[in-house]
Order: sequence, then C-alpha cells, then structure tokens
Amino acid sequence: MSRNYRVAVVGATGAVGIEILDVMSRRNFPVASLRLLASPRSAGKKLRFRGEDVPVQILGPDSFKDIDIAIFSAGSATVKEYADIAVKAGAVVVDNSSAYRGVDSVPLIVPEINGDDVKKHQGIIANPNCTTAITLMGLYPLHQKFGVKRVFASSYQAVSGAGARAIDELQSQVHAIANQQPIEKDIFPHQIAFNVIPHVDVFLDSGYTKEEMKMQSEGQKIMHLPSFRASVTCVRVPIYRAHSVAISAEFEKTVDIAEARAAIEAFPGVQVLDDPESKHYPMPLFAAEQDDCFVGRIRKDCALENGLAFWVAGDQLLKGAALNAVQIAELL
Ligand SMILES: NC(=O)c1ccc[n+]([C@@H]2O[C@H](COP(=O)([O-])OP(=O)(O)OC[C@H]3O[C@@H](n4cnc5c(N)ncnc54)[C@H](OP(=O)(O)O)[C@@H]3O)[C@@H](O)[C@H]2O)c1
Repeated sequence: MSRNYRVAVVGATGAVGIEILDVMSRRNFPVASLRLLASPRSAGKKLRFRGEDVPVQILGPDSFKDIDIAIFSAGSATVKEYADIAVKAGAVVVDNSSAYRGVDSVPLIVPEINGDDVKKHQGIIANPNCTTAITLMGLYPLHQKFGVKRVFASSYQAVSGAGARAIDELQSQVHAIANQQPIEKDIFPHQIAFNVIPHVDVFLDSGYTKEEMKMQSEGQKIMHLPSFRASVTCVRVPIYRAHSVAISAEFEKTVDIAEARAAIEAFPGVQVLDDPESKHYPMPLFAAEQDDCFVGRIRKDCALENGLAFWVAGDQLLKGAALNAVQIAELL
C-alpha cells in the first residue's frame, strides 16, 4: 500500500538542497508535506516546489515535529547537532555530509550497489562522498565481474562540489579576469579560474587529504570489501558541475574489454560512452544535469596485472548527492 511522507529538507537553499527539491519533483516522490529548513541567513526566502512557493524556515529544535523523512544537506556540524533530535521526534534521517559515514550502525548506501543495507538503519542513513559514488558506479559492475583489489585514481572535481558560494567564486573570478580586475578568493585556497588545485578537503598526516581517503574507506563499506585499497589524488577544476575520475583498477581475475563493457552496460544508472574513433567519451559538460554516470576510455591498463584503465563522469550534485539521497528515501 502506498502512502505519502512528511518530508523535511535541511539545507534546502544550498547547491544540493535545491537539487533535492527538483529530484523529488520529477521522480514524483510521494510528498504529503514539505518543510524547508536553513540558517537564519535564509529567513524570508521562498523556494518553488511543484509550482508552489514554500517558505524557508529557520532550523531549530522543534523543526522535526510530524516529519517522517529528514534529508540533511547542511554540513557535518549541523547534522551532528540535529540528527538525534530529528530521530527522537520520529523521523528517519538521510544525511549528505561525512558526519556519520564511518559509523558502524549507520548504513552508507548507493542504492544500485548495497540498497539492501538500508534495512539495517537505526534512524540515520548516510549518503556517500560524491567522488566515491561516481567512481563506484563505474567500478562496482567491474568488481562483480573480475573482483577489484585496488585502484589508483585522480579526480577532476567541479566547483559546485564545494557548495553554492563556490559557484559564485568561480563566476566572479572569471568576470574579474576578463575585465582585468583583481580577483577575490574566499572558498578555495588559490585562484580557481583558469587554474587547477590539487587540494580538496584538509590534509592528513599521511599527505593524502580527507577527501582522497574517502574512496578507500567508503568504498570498503559500500562494496562490503574490507581489502579494497585506493590511492587517490583529488583535484579541483574550474568547471561548474559534474565530477570526472581517471581510474586504473587492478582485479583478481583476468580482465576482458568486451566483458567489462557488457558488465557496465547491464548495470543500472550508468552508461558506456566509449568510441574514441568518433571522439565519443564522457565529459562533464554533457554529464551535467544527467541522472546517469558515464564510463569511457576503457582499455587494458599497461602498467598493472589484470588491470583496466577507464574514465567516469557524473553529476556530483545528482548521483553524488541529491539523486542518491532521494533514491535512499525511495528505498525507505
Ligand atoms: N555540493 C556537492 O556536490 C555535494 C556532494 C555530496 C555531498 N555534499 C554535502 O552536502 C552538504 C551540503 O552541501 P552544499 O554543496 O549544498 O552546500 P551549500 O551550497 O553551502 O549549502 C549549505 C546549506 O546548509 C545550510 N546551512 C548551513 N549552516 C546551517 C545551519 N547552522 N543551520 C541550518 N542550515 C544551515 C545553508 O543555509 P543558508 O543558505 O541559510 O546558509 C544551505 O542551505 C555538505 O555536507 C556537503 O559536504 C555536497
């Protein structure tokens, strides 16, 4: 029997929050009522949902009364402060931040890969890191076929991965440079316009960043594969939307290109776009605003035993965040 759900979106005014409203609308998510929550900065704002203006409310301890599903997209500090309050009020929390991803009792879900884990939730479900989710959409079908051991990867991450203000920063820097004015920077540590920055998230003692290590830790949890290893370099690039990842993966079994393509093609939520002769390969410009992720440049890796090199592009605001979160809510 179907029913409608009372939904709260925390961080509704953000880069991901706006997409959550759009995804719920176009997937006909059964919304009985919608409560939009954000910080005091958004007081008085309204957002459109299914043709209606919905006022944004300021997040507070009473925000979760009569809510069934609370999708959080407001950063780790906010979810840590409010997740328990929401759960005690009777809501199931789906969180986009990294706050609970490593907690054993919190399922970390990519619905196409480990959707069944949702049944184990105790009130909170975590949405994976965007670069990890997009990588796994290409890697997991290959893992099912050949058994992945480890990957070496470099990401090309869009500025919207750092939130709405990061989009503004790239726009204003491009405008300033085009008009021969000095640039201003706030979100990124260096000028991002006409540059690439090999620094996403904070550095760890190992020399990797936190973002880079998420692919290994979250990949292990999502694929139920504790032996999975990932050496990653995350790079911010001056594009607005959709992340790309260059991956060299080593497998247990001998790889075969035709079987690899067939495995990816048969997997939901991902498409093979791989015809180099015709200059067809995935690019963020065309992956943007698409629900599916795209895999191309598939070839035997010349430096690894049983290795495949490939390239994945996907809209990190969608499969890396809003779409995946709404898919989790659909599983509920
Ligand atoms: N962007 C991505 O591609 C992506 C992908 C995967 C996961 N995530 C995660 O998703 C979360 C949101 O990211 P985003 O890119 O959408 O960031 P964003 O554009 O900066 O939006 C942040 C949202 O959180 C709200 N917020 C911030 N502090 C708050 C507080 N104290 N109380 C209530 N609301 C508060 C903001 O409200 P105001 O507008 O009122 O400030 C805004 O709605 C982050 O945890 C991020 O790591 C993002």
